[in-house]
Amino acid sequence: MGAAALPSLLLGILFVSSFTISPSESKLTTDYYSKSCPQFEDTIREIVTSKQITSPTTAAGTLRLFFHDCMVEGCDASVLISSNAFNKAERDSDVNLSLPGDAFDLIVRAKTALELTCPGVVSCADILAHATRDLITMVGGPFYTVRLGRKDGLISQASRVDLPTVKSSVSEMITFFASKGFTVIEFVALMGGHTIGFSHCKEFAGRIYNYSKTSPIDPTLNAKYAEGLRKACANYETNPTMAAFNDVMTPGKFDNMYYQNLQRGLGLLQIDQILMADARTKPYVEMFAANQTAFFQSFSHAMEKLSVLSVKTGRKGEIRRRCDSFNNIRT
Ligand SMILES: *[C@@H]1O[C@H](CO)[C@@H](O)[C@H](O)[C@H]1NC(C)=O
Ligand SMILES: *[C@@H]1O[C@H](CO)[C@@H](O)[C@H](O)[C@H]1NC(C)=O
Ligand SMILES: *[C@@H]1O[C@H](CO)[C@@H](O)[C@H](O)[C@H]1NC(C)=O
Repeated sequence: MGAAALPSLLLGILFVSSFTISPSESKLTTDYYSKSCPQFEDTIREIVTSKQITSPTTAAGTLRLFFHDCMVEGCDASVLISSNAFNKAERDSDVNLSLPGDAFDLIVRAKTALELTCPGVVSCADILAHATRDLITMVGGPFYTVRLGRKDGLISQASRVDLPTVKSSVSEMITFFASKGFTVIEFVALMGGHTIGFSHCKEFAGRIYNYSKTSPIDPTLNAKYAEGLRKACANYETNPTMAAFNDVMTPGKFDNMYYQNLQRGLGLLQIDQILMADARTKPYVEMFAANQTAFFQSFSHAMEKLSVLSVKTGRKGEIRRRCDSFNNIRT
């Protein structure tokens, strides 16, 4: 190679990498705690395993919590902060959101254990990211790489939460995901997280009781399935905890059944079922329904991307002592 070629090649590499990786996420590494907290992986795995066995909805709840965390302020544990008299925190942005208690409990347990063995070393953001991956793998989903070294964020405000809802349109969803750097196929793959977990009846009641003037039931729903949901949710207004599995066929298993369900009118939420009706998303639903390997590959790739979204490193964050409050409580 000629001497003159070298600088331009280096420039080319720098140029390319500046577009693919942000300075913060480039500081993350897979072995971040190998010296400072060698127990990190084993501790999380043990706690995740016992929690998932005693509370089988933990995996879905933790995935949801992690998604919520990363999509607001980046993956920085901002979602774990509790509100106080002076600040309404992210997790209380919507009374209807009801973020899963099991998942918060899991993170608190892991943090407590890690503070005993490696005090002040492991961030809550890393615990949440790592626990999410372990849980997905535990319920049958793909293993993907989680790089570590996130700091915990210093902001958590309900007023800064701007997430799509179960009633969002495909266009709104595509725009939202694009604003966070995700393509349409990545968006459809992340929706596949609804292969586990459940939703409260009020989130889909409109589809089974009150759809339109001419039809109380959303006609895109499978008729028998809709009938079953109407029975299951009969008292939902007096009992708001009533819920249905997101994936009626294999509710606890992370697989591609979610997409097969959409093809049969078994999508629980409006936001699920409309993926099948839109020309931009339908091809990916069909591809993932036909090929679980393709789904797992796209899901893994999208999760690796989600896991490093706007992460904070260095002085842009802190290692919280407790996951639910900032180290210096600002008033
Ligand atoms: C909560 O749900 C109820 C009933 O579906 C709705 O009327 C209300 O606007 C929702 N609240 C928020 C903050 O979204
Ligand atoms: C259907 O909608 C009407 C009017 O909005 C409301 O009064 C009624 O309670 C709803 N029924 C159910 C079963 O949700
Ligand atoms: C399924 O998807 C994988 C990954 O994209 C691909 O390598 C494989 O050929 C596909 N299988 C079929 C039967 O299309």
